[in-house]
Amino acid sequence: MTELATVDSVEILVLVDNATDTLSTVPSYVENELPRLLRRGLKRLSGRCLCCAAHGLSLAITARRGDVERTLLFDTGPDAWVFERNVDRLGFDMATVDGIALSHGHWDHGGAMVRALEMIQLASGGRTVPTYMHPGMYRTRAMKMPDGSMRPFEDVPTAAMLEQQGALVVHATVPLSVLDGLFYVSGEIPRVTSFEPGLPGQFRRTEDGSGWEPDTLLVDERYVAVRVKDRGVLVFTACSHAGVVNVMLDARERFPGSPLFGVMGGFHLSGANERIIPETVEALRAFPLTVVAPGHCTGWRATSALAAAFGDAVAPSAVGKTYRF
Ligand SMILES: [Fe+2]
Repeated sequence: MTELATVDSVEILVLVDNATDTLSTVPSYVENELPRLLRRGLKRLSGRCLCCAAHGLSLAITARRGDVERTLLFDTGPDAWVFERNVDRLGFDMATVDGIALSHGHWDHGGAMVRALEMIQLASGGRTVPTYMHPGMYRTRAMKMPDGSMRPFEDVPTAAMLEQQGALVVHATVPLSVLDGLFYVSGEIPRVTSFEPGLPGQFRRTEDGSGWEPDTLLVDERYVAVRVKDRGVLVFTACSHAGVVNVMLDARERFPGSPLFGVMGGFHLSGANERIIPETVEALRAFPLTVVAPGHCTGWRATSALAAAFGDAVAPSAVGKTYRF
């Protein structure tokens, strides 16, 4: 069993997400983007002052236990410009980042990693940053188009590129307890449900680089978890190519005795996966969820279905929002 400490509190700042929403009312544990900007001294509303939404996800997760405070950057979103703009608008101090975990080898999560590392270095006087990667993340990927052609994805940065910017790259396929045990970075996620299909149509370069091979399972996807005092376990799943129900089933097995009270991130129930929304929502009812924070690739149809099923427990993610537990 990988050790996971119980933290006194956790705060999640959404640095990058598909959605921007400064107006919708939020539950007491969520703060919208605007109050944060006003606290920073914003005098006049303008387009210049707000974060940008972009297809991807980046969460700054800060956990506190006694005097110990650690921040894990879970993904960086698709693009350095968006990441840097949002960090700047939100006044997030990159020097506070103690580690980075990349959820899986896709551009919409790892596209800003090099710049994020550079920003940490500049803000902290050149500190090295443990960076948790899966060895299967680096192979070039592509989607097969209806005409049979391959549309390649931008690669995530290589370990050498990350190390050049101060990363201390940790490769693992098994679960890790990181940053003084305050965070759990999962291992590969067992695929046990019958209805979660992975990513049909995705291929990756063969090892010798000569062709393509099917890569539906995306085994490099991992989730992050934090155990919060008096609440239970909060699960972060960035893109859920393993299936969000598979993620939750694995987390339940890993943390017996700790209720899974929350799940946050991209549930990947858009596009072709819209057809599994009913089974997914039904299966999620098996968990004692009081917080459901869909974002990124979840899709509006699934978010609507979750809201119908879980009511006030649903607090969708958007850029600049802060969640506190
Ligand atoms: Fe994604």
